[in-house]
Amino acid sequence: MNGKVYLVGAGPGDPDLLTVKALRAIQGADIVLYDDLVSDEILALIPSTARDVSVGKRAGRPLVTQEEIHRRMIEAARQGHAVVRLKGGDPLLFARGGEEIEALRKAGIDFEIIPGITAALAAAATARIPLTDRRFASKLVFLSAHRAGEWSLDDWRSTAEAESTIAVYMPGENYLDLAAELLAGGLSEDTPVLVVENASRPAESIRSTTLGDLPDSGRFAVPAILLIGVVAGFYDWSAEEEDEVLEALRASAT
Ligand SMILES: C[S@@+](CC[C@H](N)C(=O)[O-])C[C@H]1O[C@@H](n2cnc3c(N)ncnc32)[C@H](O)[C@@H]1O
Repeated sequence: MNGKVYLVGAGPGDPDLLTVKALRAIQGADIVLYDDLVSDEILALIPSTARDVSVGKRAGRPLVTQEEIHRRMIEAARQGHAVVRLKGGDPLLFARGGEEIEALRKAGIDFEIIPGITAALAAAATARIPLTDRRFASKLVFLSAHRAGEWSLDDWRSTAEAESTIAVYMPGENYLDLAAELLAGGLSEDTPVLVVENASRPAESIRSTTLGDLPDSGRFAVPAILLIGVVAGFYDWSAEEEDEVLEALRASAT
């Protein structure tokens, strides 16, 4: 009888941020195929009876092709194994989850998806800022500059809205162009930006800047995410400053 594949989100790195369901799937796995972003602390939870295989990237190059990952998942499931495909964050966000679902469906393999805490949520929690706030931000955009292996800034201008929060995944070094695009789209130079590196991991760091100063903020560690928008200002506003921002927003709305 065929086994089953579990597409599991490992969250941002801290093992305490794994879901109970993810932990159970890992503990019940015969084979775990894991990506680079999965932290060592989470890999340590894989039982010694399971085979663990890295299918991530080295120096930006895939260690194993996407087709080979599909082949290995399908083959192991056909041998009757419980297969965990373990990915950083959530398996359906910038994680090639769609391609893996398609391959499993075509092969007629039973599968289940176990969500994980995505980087934007972990970064916001770490920085203690809201991502939406009924006073400042009613929209949240998850954005990646990396589309099908190419850098793409196609639609970034249209995402530049004062009432939006923008979470930029895989910022690479493209944040110079990103800032220019968002400024050209109408955001102001003093729009707050947080650069959150290694959210929830021991090397975690948070830098606060603005869209105007983003190009001067140096290189980012990997992984890093950008949170852009008025809400990012919560990171270093005092209560008085928050009131002032609120007043200014009210005034500009009238
Ligand atoms: C290929 S995407 C995978 C996203 C993942 N599926 C998720 O839901 O978080 C990789 C990007 O996620 C972001 N990322 C993942 N883990 C992170 C962390 N612990 N801290 C900051 N950014 C992170 C970075 O922008 C990184 O370049």
